Amino acid sequence: AATYDFMVVSNRLPVDRCAPGESGDDGSGWRRSPGGLVTALAPMMTKTDGAWVGWHGAPDETVEPFSHGGMDLVPVQLSNDDVELYYEGFSNATLWPLYHDVIAPPEFHRTWWDAYRRVNQRFADAVVRHAGQGATVWVQDYQLQLVPRLLRQARPDLRIGFFNHIPFPPPEIFAQLPWRQAIIDGLMGADLVGFQRPSDAGNFMRSARRFLGASVKQQQVHVKGKYGEITHIARAQAFPISIDVAQISELAHNPEIIERARQIRQDLGNPKTILLGVDRLDYTKGIRHRLKAFEELLNEGKLTVGDATLIQVASPSRERVEQYRLLREEIEGTVGHINGTYDTIQNTAVRYLHHSYPVEEMVALYLAADVMLVTALRDGMNLVAKEYVTARKDNDGALVLSEFAGAADQLKQALLMNPHDIDGLKDTIMRAVDLPPKDAARRMRSMRKQILEHDVDHWSADFLAALNEKVVRDDS
Ligand code: G6P
Repeated sequence: AATYDFMVVSNRLPVDRCAPGESGDDGSGWRRSPGGLVTALAPMMTKTDGAWVGWHGAPDETVEPFSHGGMDLVPVQLSNDDVELYYEGFSNATLWPLYHDVIAPPEFHRTWWDAYRRVNQRFADAVVRHAGQGATVWVQDYQLQLVPRLLRQARPDLRIGFFNHIPFPPPEIFAQLPWRQAIIDGLMGADLVGFQRPSDAGNFMRSARRFLGASVKQQQVHVKGKYGEITHIARAQAFPISIDVAQISELAHNPEIIERARQIRQDLGNPKTILLGVDRLDYTKGIRHRLKAFEELLNEGKLTVGDATLIQVASPSRERVEQYRLLREEIEGTVGHINGTYDTIQNTAVRYLHHSYPVEEMVALYLAADVMLVTALRDGMNLVAKEYVTARKDNDGALVLSEFAGAADQLKQALLMNPHDIDGLKDTIMRAVDLPPKDAARRMRSMRKQILEHDVDHWSADFLAALNEKVVRDDS
């Protein structure tokens, strides 16, 4: 097998198997995978010689290593059972809700945990097969938290990093997990464990202390063995992820995309205000809260159909998981209710789109939208917020941003709010709609500066530089 000096491992490969001609198909039977992780990592991987290990999205199909879009991809196979128990079950019905403030109740099933362990082992085996002597391996996200320890055991020569793209819960919530000790121990196999926010890193360190008896000094976590000898040492630190700024700004300057943005406005009847939401259809994103606020504003006459339209892109996600099915029904019921009540023959209140779109169309939407609504109840980072700001090259437009998204740490000039507070959300939406152009420009300029200086290349370079630093042990 081919070996590599640098490997990224994530549950998903950057591309997903699709039926020929299905939406998003680039002609090869592959389409881009959903979500922020792929958005952030793909630009780096097209520029390096490394390999990306992950699942290719088709249950029970064996695919040999292949290249796509300038990346070497090493597929890991999942059976139908693995998809159900490890991916839909433990990853997305246990860990996902547990790590997002238990917005939905997490389910704990021993058969799911067994599958999680088994599949993590399979990912680790694939890495072991392809990693050159002394290679750097960067493991990604909550689906693979046991992989660092498994790699450390099999291949002590490797340098192992881990990055968690989603929040890490406070120990008071993490405590619910029956396998909390094994998860912390799995992560402690890494030399460096990265998180989005300092509070996530802090939560992890407190959990390591509480559940593994670790001692924590500055950002180093030490676990001691029976005789007081240090058995594991890892560093935990925040590295806020970002986007491919060059790609988004280039598209935002592209005349065809600018024309497309104009067309979108015209197709909607040139309303005074276009509000935009762009999310995977996920209960963490606060889509219900956003619709509730919008509906009340229509009801009170503060916004009127014709003057204001909300475009809600909700891209399909995890459709076989029950909570996601329920959410879809609820959102679509609400949208139908709002539109039935407020639409006219000519104009619509909510333009709801249950699709995913290529990045070109997304940038056109960002350019067309006066107000961007990011109302997540909990979100590791939220890259949509960063993409919107990057696309607003004329320094106009307003970003309404949840305090509970990691992006709020960096985008301090956004109109920040608590999405649980519907009155507060309504006030903030109206502030955004009526934001004086000077104020809007001041805010946008400062947010743009922040992102331009911290794009995703900085993120990966910072992480990898920290991973390669020699750890100075402080055993005292
Ligand atoms: C988030 C997670 C990723 C995940 C993505 C899409 O961004 O952090 O790990 O890949 O959502 O979700 P999916 O379940 O479709 O991979």
